[in-house]
Amino acid sequence: MLDSGGGVADQKEAPPLLVQPERMGLQITVPRESSEGERRVAAVPETISRLTALGARVVVESGAGTAAGYSDEAYREAGAQVESDSDTLWRQADVLIKVARPSDEEIARLRGGSLLVSFVNPLGDPLRAQRLAEHGVTTFAMELIPRISRAQSMDALSSMSTIAGYKSVLLAAVQLPKLFPLLMTAAGTIAPARVLVLGAGVAGLQAIATARRLGAVVSAFDTRAVVKEQVESLGATFLALELPTRDAEAAGGYARALTHEEEEQERELVAKAVRESDVAITTALVPGRRAPILITDQTLQGMRPGSVVVDLAAEAGGNCEGAVPGQSVTRHGVTVIAPLNVPSSVPMHASQLYARNVSNLLASIVKDGAVSLDFEDEVVKGTCLTHEGNVLNAATAALLQTMEKASNT
Ligand code: NAI
Repeated sequence: MLDSGGGVADQKEAPPLLVQPERMGLQITVPRESSEGERRVAAVPETISRLTALGARVVVESGAGTAAGYSDEAYREAGAQVESDSDTLWRQADVLIKVARPSDEEIARLRGGSLLVSFVNPLGDPLRAQRLAEHGVTTFAMELIPRISRAQSMDALSSMSTIAGYKSVLLAAVQLPKLFPLLMTAAGTIAPARVLVLGAGVAGLQAIATARRLGAVVSAFDTRAVVKEQVESLGATFLALELPTRDAEAAGGYARALTHEEEEQERELVAKAVRESDVAITTALVPGRRAPILITDQTLQGMRPGSVVVDLAAEAGGNCEGAVPGQSVTRHGVTVIAPLNVPSSVPMHASQLYARNVSNLLASIVKDGAVSLDFEDEVVKGTCLTHEGNVLNAATAALLQTMEKASNT
């Protein structure tokens, strides 16, 4: 059912038709997530009707939504078929939608010529992209959705960052031996907690909003100058740091990596603000790079005992020295929490948002029950990671080339 409508795909032989004679119609498959601790699911009952409206049959693996609070019955009522036989389900998928990047075993189960929509982490794990290409799978990587107005409804990174930013504040509030709001009680006044947010992108801004709702006094910093106004509009203070680099915005709204010297200066400048805070939430990321270290061990030593750091950049190596990914540790009396896969800890709404992102993407590549790829379309061009045996994403292909060169020397 893959019909490559022009561009790159037309130059090559068309992939085999995917519809097997014994069954009709495009099958969109929603498997149970297999990676440990993953509680999200790529379709929710609400999005089933959107998917069937594209002319597809939707088959959901039994139990796929259970951890997120969506029962098999709810999927059936919404118009999906619920299937228990996992092998059949994967074998018959024309389009397979999932959340976590597929394991090697899962890639092996996908039929060549089928279409996969998932997080894939292409810049962190380019070899997986290569395996998908070699297996003949057309892959749409949800990390690669371009940051253009038309694609905002498909932007899964923003959806998941929103959830992570919100949850990070709750993790800190539960751990902090203080209250967040200013309280005037008969026993006297309690001062509000001071929260510092480093990195004020999607997650950081949501953390600021959530901490403000809980009554904390919030300040924030980001290397992109444009963020100042957004931070202030949420009622927080933007730190006035005299960094020589006044703006480190790169393409697509992301930050560029700072030089070693610039990072050093930033660490020194934020140290005072960190020490004065009860809670520091760090979210600073640079795509395809290790997260910058913003809080050193020495800065941690200067924080008051009982203070809390939540390092949301743990998956990319962390912003806080001594943070242990996936764990909560105490260093110099400070609790350093470095959670992994935070969106999965709010699985119902994380799945709802992700499923909407995926169904919006599919609405632009599935027409009348067939996959139709227009490589002139910015969303298709930007998001399609592998197609017809090739890795199409330039940054991923470049990483693979570098790896190949390194292995040949
Ligand atoms: P991200 O998750 O890659 O990074 C998080 C934040 O860390 C960013 O704000 C970045 O500037 C900051 N950061 C990086 N290095 C830092 C350092 N050394 N010190 C302090 N902060 C540092 O980025 P995210 O949150 O996914 O998006 C960043 C921006 O992209 C958004 O704020 C927005 O302006 C833009 N965007 C645009 C969209 C669209 O037009 N469709 C959709 C989503 C985001």
